[in-house]
Order: sequence, then structure tokens, then C-alpha cells
Amino acid sequence: MKVVAYSIKPFEKEFLSKANQKKHEITLISNPLSAETTFYAEGKDAVVVFTNDDVSAGVIEKLANLGIKYIATRSAGTDHIDKEAAGNHGIKVANVPHYSPEAIAEHAVALAFALNRNLILANDHSHHFNFTNNGLMGFNFSGKTVGIIGLGNTGLATAAIFKGMGCKVIGYDLDFPENNNIAEDVTLPYLYANSDIISLHLPLNEGTKHIINEFTLAQMKDGVMLINTSRGALIKTTDVIQAIYAGKIGYLGLDVYEFEKGLFFEEHKKGTIEDPLLKELMQFDHVLITPHQAYLTREALQGIADQTIKNLDLWQQNKCVGKACACAKNCQAPAHAAS
Ligand code: NAI
Repeated sequence: MKVVAYSIKPFEKEFLSKANQKKHEITLISNPLSAETTFYAEGKDAVVVFTNDDVSAGVIEKLANLGIKYIATRSAGTDHIDKEAAGNHGIKVANVPHYSPEAIAEHAVALAFALNRNLILANDHSHHFNFTNNGLMGFNFSGKTVGIIGLGNTGLATAAIFKGMGCKVIGYDLDFPENNNIAEDVTLPYLYANSDIISLHLPLNEGTKHIINEFTLAQMKDGVMLINTSRGALIKTTDVIQAIYAGKIGYLGLDVYEFEKGLFFEEHKKGTIEDPLLKELMQFDHVLITPHQAYLTREALQGIADQTIKNLDLWQQNKCVGKACACAKNCQAPAHAAS
């Protein structure tokens, strides 16, 4: 299959190359997909994209006119793709539904640890030979209540780590996993009212956008720790900033940010970013922001590359990609569909 892969970072190349074994003719480019870069897809069968690529209806129409039949995203989330538009043009869509959920879970817990034990500040002090303990006091996670919203792959993996740290873990999911002995099934109001730490593990869709807003924040404990490694728009940023000023949010750990598109994954010159909300967030001591890197482990990158190539293999064989199918309407899966 002839493929163009957008938004490729240098560190991804070895994993894709190992997974591909020269089966597909893949052009790797660092540019993100946008209306201005669709021309790279001319003469190709498939495009491979990432989370901040523009895969909106207008771009999909251009891709369809160039003859693109498949869109494979190197991510679990598919909120950046207009799946209806793809379906209308007969373009199939696939994702990477399950890859190393531990990578995301470990990053969520790393954010929680760094915030609690003031690791960034402590390191900064140490590098300036200031070895006092002032301002570094934290709390024990053991014995605290952790609320996990969304108990799919990454939520359950995060719950398991917190459980191992001696926390009481409660959780909420529209489809709560059966027979799990990690998290207690509770309602959302109960979770908000009783959690010392809340970690979000939801896809972004119409039902979850701004799930954290002034009304849900008001139900939380004062000084709660909020961690988001899922998608930025789960949180209404303006409301969370007000909640930090009010002392409702004591700690905020973000690997994703509502307005990260065009910002994250790139190096920007100091002073060129006009994002007053992000600047405001960065003023707070107890806000820790990482650049959408929860997926960034060797194991996860290989898993992403392997599944992406598998999706291309199956499409080339005219087979359904099974659980990786992200088409708006289930495509016609033959009986031998692979997962
Ligand atoms: P998943 O599909 O395994 O789990 C999501 C869970 O959310 C499911 O159990 C589902 O029933 C539940 N859910 C959906 N809508 C809900 C609602 N309205 N209320 C309550 N529960 C709801 O997904 P996974 O693998 O855990 O990933 C979650 C999200 O994390 C992805 O959609 C993606 O956006 C993000 N992600 C971020 C990464 C990063 O590098 N920062 C890496 C991987 C995923």
C-alpha cells in the first residue's frame, strides 16, 4: 500500500520501520496534516495521522478527491477525525485501541507524585545548592481516596497502581467493568464528593466535553488533586483556573490541554505564544503541565507502530481491522475479521 504518514517525530521512525519491514511504501513527513499539506497524499492509498492533525470534513474531502481510501491514526483517541465525513466519502478509519495502557497510567501517577512531593521545585532548589526542606511538604498517598473517571484500558491500569500504593480506589464508568476487584463502582456525585485525587480516563466526545466545569468542580473536596492524561477539552480551562484561585483545586496535573492544537509537539520561541489561559495556568506553583507525552515509552511506541501497520495489512487484504475499526458506522466486517 502507498502511504503518507503525517506529524512524524524523529523518535517514531525506528518503530514504524521495524513494524513495517518494507511491506508498505510509507513516506514519513514531519508536517501536520492540514488543508495546506493534503498534496503529500497525492497518489497514495492511505494517510497515517496523529492526535493534533486536522482531519476535519474539509480536509477529508480533499483527501477523498486525491483518492485516499484509508485513514489510520497512531492514537487511541479518534476525536480529531470527522468520522462521519470519512464515512460519507467511503474512507475507512482505524485507530490503536489498546497499546500499553501502563504507559499512560504511569505518567498519570508520575504527575501526581511530582505535584504532591514538589519534585520540580525540589530539583530546582538542589540545582541551586539550596538543600533546605522549606516548601516541599507533601502528603501520603496511602490511605487517600482516588476517583478514576473512565475505567477502560488506561483507567484500570491507573487504578491498579494507586491501589498498590494503599489508596482506596473508587470509579465511575458508563459501562463499569465487571468482576474487577480494583475499583469500587460509585456514582459521579459520590466520586466528586469523596475523592482526594481525581484522574480522568475518558475519550473526548459530546458526552464528555467539559465534564469538569464549574458545577462539577463545586462538588469536589477543597484542595483536590486533578490529573488529566486523556484529552484537554474534558476540562473547561476557564472554570478550572477559577477553581485554583478559590482553593478548590489544590493540584493540577495536565498532560493534555484544551487548546493544545498547534502548540504541543512543537518548539516555540519564548514570547511568541499568545495563549493567556496557558500563561495563567503556568503562574501557579501547583500546576504541572507536560506536552502530551503520556504515550511516550518505547513499549507504547512499538505497540502503536505494530497496530498501525497491522491495520494497513488488513485493509490491503480487504479485511476489517476488527477492534481497531473507528468508522462512524461499523464497516462490513467479514466473518474472518481480525481484532
Ligand atoms: P478506553 O476506551 O479503554 O476507556 C474509556 C472508558 O471511558 C470506557 O470504559 C468507556 O465506557 C468510558 N466512557 C466513555 N464515555 C463515558 C462517559 N460519558 N462517562 C463515563 N464513562 C465513559 O480508552 P483508554 O485507552 O483508557 O483511553 C482513554 C483516552 O485517553 C483516549 O480516548 C485518549 O483520548 C486518551 N489517551 C491519551 C494519551 C496520551 O498520551 N495523553 C494516550 C492514550 C490515550
